[in-house]
Amino acid sequence: MKQSILKLTVLSLSITAALTIFIDHSNARGSVNKDQATQTAPAALQEKTVEQVQKNIKVLTGMPQSQLIPVMNFFAASMGRRCNFCHVNKNGQWDYVSDEKPEKNTAREMIKMVLDVNKTTFKGAVEVSCYTCHRGRNQPQSIPLLPLPLPSPPAGNPAAAAGGGGSGNVTAPGAQAQASPRPALPSADDIFDKYIAAIGGQPAIDKLKSRAAKGTLVQANGNTLQFEVYQVAPDRFYQLVTTPQGPFERGFNGTVGWEKSARGVRELTGGELAQIRAVNNLFGLIKLKDQFTRTRVAGKDKIGDRDVYVITGTLADGNRQRLFFDVETGLLLRRTTSTQTMIGVIPEQIDFEDYRDVEGIKFPFIARSSTIEAGNPVSTRQFTEIRLNTAVDESKFNMPAAPKPATP
Ligand code: HEC
Ligand code: HEC
Repeated sequence: MKQSILKLTVLSLSITAALTIFIDHSNARGSVNKDQATQTAPAALQEKTVEQVQKNIKVLTGMPQSQLIPVMNFFAASMGRRCNFCHVNKNGQWDYVSDEKPEKNTAREMIKMVLDVNKTTFKGAVEVSCYTCHRGRNQPQSIPLLPLPLPSPPAGNPAAAAGGGGSGNVTAPGAQAQASPRPALPSADDIFDKYIAAIGGQPAIDKLKSRAAKGTLVQANGNTLQFEVYQVAPDRFYQLVTTPQGPFERGFNGTVGWEKSARGVRELTGGELAQIRAVNNLFGLIKLKDQFTRTRVAGKDKIGDRDVYVITGTLADGNRQRLFFDVETGLLLRRTTSTQTMIGVIPEQIDFEDYRDVEGIKFPFIARSSTIEAGNPVSTRQFTEIRLNTAVDESKFNMPAAPKPATP
């Protein structure tokens, strides 16, 4: 039972990532927990913590439940291993609660160390994570390998070497890029304005009331799932993914969020709901600027052979995103999200391609998502059909009546 729930959780995360039209992937804060019985105050901002939901949490206490699986994926990615490095799997049955594997307890010691070093040495900022040392291997390398890479020729621009803490280092592959002389950059507003113009202009966007779309979701293992999504302004949605385990549905009617799968119907709350709402918002890829409390033009970069402007934005919950706009066309080519957790920053990247005009607005028909999920590190969402401003049956958005699942 537990096992299939986790499978679905993992699946639903990858679906979330790949269907992404989205904002942010973590945020515990900023959403109402209906379990706390408050229709009244959207100020009841907390969601359940891992120890309130799981059975055997000793060190990750206080972490929002919606971060559990992302953080576990982060552990696995840091180790270059999978869940079974620390958890027992007997005849296909996962027992995540068990402490049988010594690696799990070692991981607990490591978590304590990471919490401690960040608290004492880095004044509470999460600077050191599992990946800082492990870098995809369970036994981190502590001694430099000889011979060292040959030193690169002295940088033409000595000023560029200052700052960033990397000065004086030999430039090994993967070393941090040095800033080249600053080109004149447009302002963030200029870039956002050019984007709005590039996708069709404000008048076309003002007319957008709903969207109905269909397509496929190709996972890293080659599985292809069919999906449909219906979105109505300002924030209602219904999403259906046909999986080997059966239909997987999610919806939000403006008040109640829900999920229906092989294991029943459940209400979505807290950070999970906030994240799924952000992902499915009709305007998630359109009204970009409004999503940030602060933006800054970080510079110019390249994606493939395209020159891009990079904007760094801070979301209301403090998490960061980077937006990469094509210098020439003004279109958004990439969006990366960094989710702060207590043990490290979890990255995610979506690349957008194949912009096509649909009734006056351009949408990317392909979105490639890269995550730290070892089981599904890359997936591609491709639309086959998008229709705008067609009538959508509003009852789709309501939570279907069905027995509640037995397990929380
Ligand atoms: C590097 C070791 C490591 C890896 C890899 C790892 N975990 Fe964990 N996991 C832990 C530790 C340690 C805990 C307990 C944390 C605590 O005590 O606060 C835990 C707890 C859990 C729990 C909570 C169990 C309970 O009810 O108490 C679940 C569920 C879980 N892990 C799932 C996963 C999944 C799924 C994966 C693969 C994506 C995974 N873990 C990968 C170390 C790991
Ligand atoms: C400061 C560097 C550092 C950080 C940060 C760090 N580790 Fe480690 N970790 C090590 C070293 C070094 C070893 C190997 C120790 C040994 O060989 O006895 C190790 C070993 C381990 C092992 C045992 C591996 C094995 O093959 O048995 C696990 C599991 C582990 N770390 C998990 C984690 C997790 C999870 C995190 C993040 C919460 C983390 N580590 C953060 C340095 C680090």
